[in-house]
Amino acid sequence: MQSVPVIAIDGPSGSGKGTICKLLAKNLGYYLLDSGALYRLVAVAADHHGVSVENERALADIAAHLDVQFLADKVVLEGEDVTLAIRTETAGMNASKVASLTLVRKALEERQRAFAEAPGLVADGRDMGTVIFPQAQVKVFLTASAEERADRRYKQLKSKGLDASLPDILADIQQRDERDMKRAVAPLKPAADALEIDCTHMTIEEVEQQVMALITKRGLH
Ligand code: DC
Repeated sequence: MQSVPVIAIDGPSGSGKGTICKLLAKNLGYYLLDSGALYRLVAVAADHHGVSVENERALADIAAHLDVQFLADKVVLEGEDVTLAIRTETAGMNASKVASLTLVRKALEERQRAFAEAPGLVADGRDMGTVIFPQAQVKVFLTASAEERADRRYKQLKSKGLDASLPDILADIQQRDERDMKRAVAPLKPAADALEIDCTHMTIEEVEQQVMALITKRGLH
């Protein structure tokens, strides 16, 4: 399907995928697809247009016509800077809801595949290795315990001076995991040929080393 090299990194919220993907894309000079941002954008656009997160047809229409620009330092939706708006816990929870709808996922498929351009792509998501890029040369499933992921998220929010409650964050993560893993369409699960890394007790550098070793083994670097 694609001859462009694709590195698919999947896993649950807060596993550190985003950080690893940014590092890899920078090191390799590859493009980066943050697929979660697309679902977050659909959720935020739906809110702007007063569309319920259960209205599958209207949401799929929004997804198919998403007017978005990914600029160097901001994300612009329908002319509005939504860089921060798509990162809130509410946007994440609503993204998880709209992402469980078949028509919404279908509407975003080709847009995601179009990110695979030379010299290569690092794709961050839940179904990169299973559905969107099944031919990816490198597939990684990055996970960590829910407690560790909640703790990382809590520290991240606190360091930004934002108000946060650890028990609330943990409950949100568990709820989101449950929905993402149990949905009928493209559930969060490792591809059969993915390298699974549990990074609960690992540093970012250690994870990066493991993934880079696999990339080298596959002849991409
Ligand atoms: O990675 P994230 O937290 O930004 O993703 C937000 C939500 O979007 C997540 O709860 C599940 C959904 N998602 C998905 O279903 N498939 C993807 N490829 C990426 C994200």
